[in-house]
Amino acid sequence: MPMLAGKPISQNGLGLMRLTWKDDITPDENAFKILKAALETGVNVWNGADFYGTPDQNSLHLMNRYFTAYPEDADKVVLTIKSGIVDMRSFHMDCSPASIRNFVDSVNKILDGKKKIDIFGCGRVDKNVPIEDTVGALADLVREGKIGGIQLSEVSSDTIRRAAKVAKIDMVEAEISLWATDVLENGVAETCAELGITMVAHTPLGAGMLTGQIRSLDDMPANDYHRFFPRFQPENFDTNLKLVDKIKEMAEDKGCTAPQLALSWIKAQSRQPNMPVFVPVAGARSENRVFENAVDIDLSDRDFTTIKSILDSFPVVGHRYPPSAAQLTEY
Ligand SMILES: NC(=O)c1ccc[n+]([C@@H]2O[C@H](COP(=O)([O-])OP(=O)(O)OC[C@H]3O[C@@H](n4cnc5c(N)ncnc54)[C@H](OP(=O)(O)O)[C@@H]3O)[C@@H](O)[C@H]2O)c1
Repeated sequence: MPMLAGKPISQNGLGLMRLTWKDDITPDENAFKILKAALETGVNVWNGADFYGTPDQNSLHLMNRYFTAYPEDADKVVLTIKSGIVDMRSFHMDCSPASIRNFVDSVNKILDGKKKIDIFGCGRVDKNVPIEDTVGALADLVREGKIGGIQLSEVSSDTIRRAAKVAKIDMVEAEISLWATDVLENGVAETCAELGITMVAHTPLGAGMLTGQIRSLDDMPANDYHRFFPRFQPENFDTNLKLVDKIKEMAEDKGCTAPQLALSWIKAQSRQPNMPVFVPVAGARSENRVFENAVDIDLSDRDFTTIKSILDSFPVVGHRYPPSAAQLTEY
């Protein structure tokens, strides 16, 4: 079994973002059932942020309440937390050493001892602060026991190598899915494998598109910011839907669901040469979806070839992010 932050993990993770997203907060009664279901099925890498929601109602507040109700679950979960955003509207970052320390202190204050931060890092690289300084500060916080490990998010191979010279990097988070294969091709995944870094695949279901259940923008939640992303725009949507339909067809042929196929494909990348452990963190807001998404589908070499030919025949159109957000990523 792979290990992360000193704990055994399965290759199934859970994205916490949508559970506390601003005007659509999942009531604790439901959220707790979802979190319990996750642990029941071995989904123990939980991916949150202090900016998933408002300063008064985000992943950390949910974690405090959950682990207050179920203290026995605290040691079972690898809680990974992103931070570093000073202004959500402009996505202005501050990952200077002093600021990182303040962010960690305020996260720990909200968690109130109910749960340790297992892995911590900035949501993006702060372009005004050398990565060595940010990671040096995180390493100090590891030594002081305020965080258990260090993560990076949406970074290039070069940044990972620079960071790894300063301290042990435990995890790198990147968008990875059937329609976001960038890190499999740009050296990021190979670098993580070489340095023994686990990769968390964020948005592994393409924000729901790869489930096959989004047939038009009307099927997306009104408050979903992905509605403004290039791949969902009218000029790209129908072309991308063709890829989704092929995946859906293949899933039906294999007797599984499209989300199961999409997530199993990510997990199975770990079996390829020079690839790291991948842990998709799908967001799901029902127990049934958590159970469904955790089912591993056995993919043969032939299945891999079929998927490759679908991806080659139906290339995704539109950038991963709109320009304002794209400039914060490193590829
Ligand atoms: N580092 C970064 O830059 C970054 C950026 C974005 C996200 N993330 C992380 O990635 C996580 C996942 O992102 P995400 O939730 O936006 O995208 P996602 O996991 O790709 O897709 C989630 C969407 O798919 C739906 N869904 C999930 N399972 C389903 C199933 N079995 N059948 C039908 N629909 C299903 C969900 O609906 P319901 O929610 O209604 O169940 C939700 O609308 C976040 O929680 C966050 O932790 C990281």
